[in-house]
Amino acid sequence: MPFNGRPKISSRTGTPAPSFPTTRMRRNRRTDWSRRLVAENQLSVDDLIWPVFVHAGDEPKIPIPSMPGVVRYSVDALVDAAGDAAALGIPMIAVFPHVEAALKDPQGSNAVDPDNVVCKAVRAIKGANLNIGVMCDAALDPFTSHGHDGLLRGEEILNDETVEVLVRQSLIQAEAGCDVISPSDMMDGRIHAIRTALDAAGHTHVQIMAYAAKYSSGFYGPFRDAVGSASTLGKGSKATYQMAPSNGDEALREVALDIAEGADMVMVKPGMPYLDIVRRVKDTFGVPTFAYQVSGEYAMLRAADERGWLDGDRVVLESLMGFKRAGADGVLTYFAVEVAHRLKSG
Ligand code: PBG
Repeated sequence: MPFNGRPKISSRTGTPAPSFPTTRMRRNRRTDWSRRLVAENQLSVDDLIWPVFVHAGDEPKIPIPSMPGVVRYSVDALVDAAGDAAALGIPMIAVFPHVEAALKDPQGSNAVDPDNVVCKAVRAIKGANLNIGVMCDAALDPFTSHGHDGLLRGEEILNDETVEVLVRQSLIQAEAGCDVISPSDMMDGRIHAIRTALDAAGHTHVQIMAYAAKYSSGFYGPFRDAVGSASTLGKGSKATYQMAPSNGDEALREVALDIAEGADMVMVKPGMPYLDIVRRVKDTFGVPTFAYQVSGEYAMLRAADERGWLDGDRVVLESLMGFKRAGADGVLTYFAVEVAHRLKSG
């Protein structure tokens, strides 16, 4: 609005309509204390969920080349790492397995073995009595020889048959002490089936965080290296079950269904390219809404920082604040521990 010397008075409120020079947006930005005072969003350690990888061997930490700074822990080393995370105040970790090739088959049988590495890790962490939640994926991809999240017949990923396996996987994870089941498979109807089975088995307190709007994304590449499904999946596509990056309205239908089926919390994934979805989900449903800053996002920020092309410390916090501003109640991020350290030291 051009300034003509006489500020317009709003007939409705009687206050001058904002205009320069009475209004100077920079006034509130002049000092550090004022900037802090007008901050609309805060990032705290309570917003962080730390995804971790575990393997069945003895090697405490195996580096993941496409995710510098991220490792696969042995079960013992993971208990220590979870203890450190708990001491930092991180509310929850998400445990992902690296399964040795010999244990993989087309059915993903190891996923429903109560002695698999996920269940061992959950029992060990829970046995350490830490003040930290443990979340586990319901999905078959780390366990299948074809790298898909579900059962395969010919070219087709079977929906209802897969859901039956996911139910069994969820039950053994709950039995091992898992606090939150996180179905990441995108089969239809799995939230209802898992909720019903958990309740019937007496696990009424076990929460469900649904990967409700999960896109078929190239940003998962480094994760597939970490869990060892990159080679098994090969050029295989998950586009018949994960969402197309072109679609936003469809995400709201997915989220509505998962809430109706009994999800306690919902997640949007990946994160940064899908902040519009986070905002729409939060505004539409008002339920606890999370975003996953996925492996490819981590790798990009880390690589640019390593090359000196970006100031990593700065852009990591900026990216996480972006999630908060978009309406996320929390973020799954591989940066959780280092961010928690920095938030602690101020
Ligand atoms: C598997 C799963 C994936 C991720 C979490 N659970 C990969 C995929 O769907 O292929 C991705 C996490 C990341 O990239 O950080 N169902």
